[in-house]
Amino acid sequence: MSASERGSFSSSFGVIVAMAGSAVGLGNMWRFPYLVGENGGAAFILIYLIFVLVFCLPVMLCEFVIGRRGGANAVKSFALLAPKSAWPLAGVLGILAAIFIMAFYPVIGGWGVNYLVKALNFTFSRAGEIDYGALFNSSVSSTVPPLIYMAIFLLASVAVVAFGVKNGIEKCSKVMMPVLFFLVLGIAIYAMCLPGAGDGIRYLFRPDFSAVTGKTVAAAMGQAFFSLSLGMGAVITYASYAGKNTSILRESIATVSADTVFAIIAGCAIMPAVFAFGYSPEQGPGLVFVTLPALFADMPGGGIIAILFFIAFLLAAITSAISLLEVMVAYFSERLKISRGWTLAILTIFLLGLCTLSSLANGPLADRKIFGMDLMTFFDYTSANFMMTLGALLIVLFVGWKIGKTVYVEELTNGGKIRVPRWLLDGTFFVIKYIAPPVIVAIVLVSILG
Ligand code: PFF
Repeated sequence: MSASERGSFSSSFGVIVAMAGSAVGLGNMWRFPYLVGENGGAAFILIYLIFVLVFCLPVMLCEFVIGRRGGANAVKSFALLAPKSAWPLAGVLGILAAIFIMAFYPVIGGWGVNYLVKALNFTFSRAGEIDYGALFNSSVSSTVPPLIYMAIFLLASVAVVAFGVKNGIEKCSKVMMPVLFFLVLGIAIYAMCLPGAGDGIRYLFRPDFSAVTGKTVAAAMGQAFFSLSLGMGAVITYASYAGKNTSILRESIATVSADTVFAIIAGCAIMPAVFAFGYSPEQGPGLVFVTLPALFADMPGGGIIAILFFIAFLLAAITSAISLLEVMVAYFSERLKISRGWTLAILTIFLLGLCTLSSLANGPLADRKIFGMDLMTFFDYTSANFMMTLGALLIVLFVGWKIGKTVYVEELTNGGKIRVPRWLLDGTFFVIKYIAPPVIVAIVLVSILG
């Protein structure tokens, strides 16, 4: 496919919005809060923040360098930068990770559609005494309705990708992200003012390291990669659509900041409510769906806020799902030389099949285990904790040891046109080359052995 046939973003702002759209999603609003709850609160958050700052920013810079320099999909960019080597396999791992994530992401998106329908029926405001835990369980464990909701979510995401990079992904993200931000911020402020919210705030901000294990650290690292869409070629793919004169550093810092702020605000919206209403923070994937409806039922005007929230929740999820689809579409259409339309159609059928299995894993197939996990948990856990982590490792090794510092500096400074402080170039490259690889390996080993 020639360069002119590939899509592109219209501006640096467009790149930032699309990247933030990819990063901010269910990872922030659904996965982060429940992992915080499962891993003891503030200590997990602190470890998460250290990863984001020390490792994720450099990994993101690496992916940007690979994608913009390579100017092609996640696999071909490696091949162009390291011809006749095995490095493109790192890209293939990324494609596989994208498939794994899209094997469960639309199921959670479908839960969001289901709850939007409930909100539209004013289910939450009408009955203050609903058992929200039971409501959640019955909603996700039945057979057919979750499949329909999942399909609606998947097809909506496919429709956006079908419009292409500029008209679909970029336009959609520009409208959706600010709406979401102000909504979640408002909900967080309300939740933090609830009577009894103090315990939740302490849980979020007062660390207790006594319960931290290797698994906690690995979960924080996996979540950081997952939330920032790192280690699997999403950033490489989007960076290949970025203009040569945009600033990689500025785009990366903006994306990382937006994503982190969203995660913390989502935590502030959910944890205080968990404590104020007497729920357990450790209830796993259902946490957001159990807690927030109770919060909405308590709020003046909560019926309307619930509707707006679930719309925004879905928009955030869609802007992430489309980046996952784009990784696959860019690769398969360019590799197999078939149109984007056909590639999408075939992928959609394939993903519908995988997501059906994941959805049923919450009900009829709950007893079918792989490595002790149900199928959906398996896709979720393996993609973040192993595939993206391994992908991130290969990416830093590639930039640190294969393409090297000259290219790295050239890309970050746009060939000397942008001034970037020397300490930042040296510092980030040092982390990429010497610190990140052994630390990532050590954490994965500790989590497997420990
Ligand atoms: N970052 C997304 C989220 O937080 O929901 C999930 C995701 C999107 C992961 C795109 C990976 C990716 F390539």
